[in-house]
Amino acid sequence: MPRVLVTGGAGYIGSHCVRALVKAEYDVSILDDLSNGHEEFVPKGVKLFKVDICNPVDVDAVFSEKQFDAVMHFAGRLEAELSMEKPEEFFYVNCVGGFNLLEAMRRHGVKKIIFSSSAAVYGEPKEIPIKENAELKPINNYGTTKLIFEQMLEMYRKSYGFSYVALRYFNAAGADPEGGIGEAHNPETHLIPNILKAAKESSEFHLFGTDYPTKDGTCVRDYIHVCDLADAHLLALKYLGDGGSFGKETGASGAVAEIFNLGNGAGYSNREVIDAVKRVTNKNFSVIEKPRREGDPPVLIADSSKAARILDWKQKFSKIEQMVETAWRFETSK
Ligand SMILES: NC(=O)c1ccc[n+]([C@@H]2O[C@H](COP(=O)([O-])OP(=O)(O)OC[C@H]3O[C@@H](n4cnc5c(N)ncnc54)[C@H](O)[C@@H]3O)[C@@H](O)[C@H]2O)c1
Repeated sequence: MPRVLVTGGAGYIGSHCVRALVKAEYDVSILDDLSNGHEEFVPKGVKLFKVDICNPVDVDAVFSEKQFDAVMHFAGRLEAELSMEKPEEFFYVNCVGGFNLLEAMRRHGVKKIIFSSSAAVYGEPKEIPIKENAELKPINNYGTTKLIFEQMLEMYRKSYGFSYVALRYFNAAGADPEGGIGEAHNPETHLIPNILKAAKESSEFHLFGTDYPTKDGTCVRDYIHVCDLADAHLLALKYLGDGGSFGKETGASGAVAEIFNLGNGAGYSNREVIDAVKRVTNKNFSVIEKPRREGDPPVLIADSSKAARILDWKQKFSKIEQMVETAWRFETSK
């Protein structure tokens, strides 16, 4: 079976993809420094290279030790607000670390890569739902580093014949119903785990902004179940392997390059998510209304029809209850 290196494979989304790859009988290895990953998420039999992607010598050594057919690149920093306080940390891991990875791949002749990009590359789009050809105008440094890496991929396609798929996820949510892995960032900046924490600890949840021009005044976001994301990665891998007949203009090298949004297409308001948590957990907790935070657009919803059309991607867990229920199961098993 094809040999896949998963960077950041001990993290939230990476571990779900690793599990899906193992189930599909790929030969899987992980590169992760465990700075925000969890060793217990690494399945038995999967080799973990405990390596900092920012160390070019160590990254190269991974490729010397083992041959790979493709890379899935999840490793990175993702706390959008923090990226405004400490841009150097985000540039270092997401861009310099990404560069180290691409260079090791180039030196060792590995030319297929799937990249975890983000809806953050769009910033505050003018049109909803957001299509892949919307203007790219990040409003935080996190989104900028994601866009820079997408541009690096395009350079490596043009110059070295790399094939890539960049998947722009919206908000990943939920956990594998089989248990054992889930969302556990430190710090946790994402909505659903923070509401679940309030439910678990009967503490307060701070709701930022209740006067947006939306149906109930709170922000609307697009949530996508992490297992559906994992499915999309396997389909993207197949797409790269199959030569991607739908790929955009490929140049003489025959390299494939494609970008897909991955979202639910529905959009749930913050209040709807809070209500779903209350229903699923049967717990009550206080919701403290706070003023808007800077840089929170009212509505972000994906148009993922391209992934459905080209990759034949179908969601299995599109309801907010399914995301909250599986996330709650993980939260209460910790
Ligand atoms: N979670 C989301 O909703 C979301 C949305 C859009 C895009 N993404 C992207 O998906 C990817 C995975 O996100 P996640 O939520 O699973 O995050 P995560 O923090 O759970 O996983 C990231 C992994 O990368 C590892 N890592 C970080 N710095 C590293 C370094 N210097 N060297 C080696 N490993 C390193 C961490 O230890 C962790 O295991 C990220 O690139 C993120 O930008 C996530």
